[in-house]
Amino acid sequence: PTVLILNGPNLNLLGTRRPEVYGSATLADVEALCREEAERLGLEAVCRQSNHEGQLVDWIHEAGVEHRAGRCVGVVFNAGAYTHTSVALHDAIEGAEVPVVEVHISNVHRREEFRHHSYLSPVARGIVVGFGVYGYVLAIHGLHQATRS
Ligand code: DQA
Repeated sequence: PTVLILNGPNLNLLGTRRPEVYGSATLADVEALCREEAERLGLEAVCRQSNHEGQLVDWIHEAGVEHRAGRCVGVVFNAGAYTHTSVALHDAIEGAEVPVVEVHISNVHRREEFRHHSYLSPVARGIVVGFGVYGYVLAIHGLHQATRS
């Protein structure tokens, strides 16, 4: 089975964008880390990134279809700034009925007020916040465990 690693807007800039907040790993590094960890658990990480809200909606829908067919355990999703703005992504997760783990590299609750609210948290299976890019690894483990029990 697969696990979809989904990254939203500006996460293609990882490594160069505010390294004091997001660290020095690039998106390619994060995706390699996810592939390795998934493989260790007998999963295949499928990695996607887009700066476009509608594209992310489409991929969530696809993951729902894959999940119902028993081919995808769920989605590890860092929606970037869309976390704080997107009713469309909330509705996509709710409608697709696929387990989604919401990930944030930084601890958004230690940052600006506008990052404290998430439209995704109420429809997320779980949330990992503030552990840097290691949060993706934790999220993969969480999904793996959730689908076993
Ligand atoms: C982020 C936090 C968001 O507030 C921000 O807009 C991002 C990255 C994180 O991973 O810490 O783009 O999701």
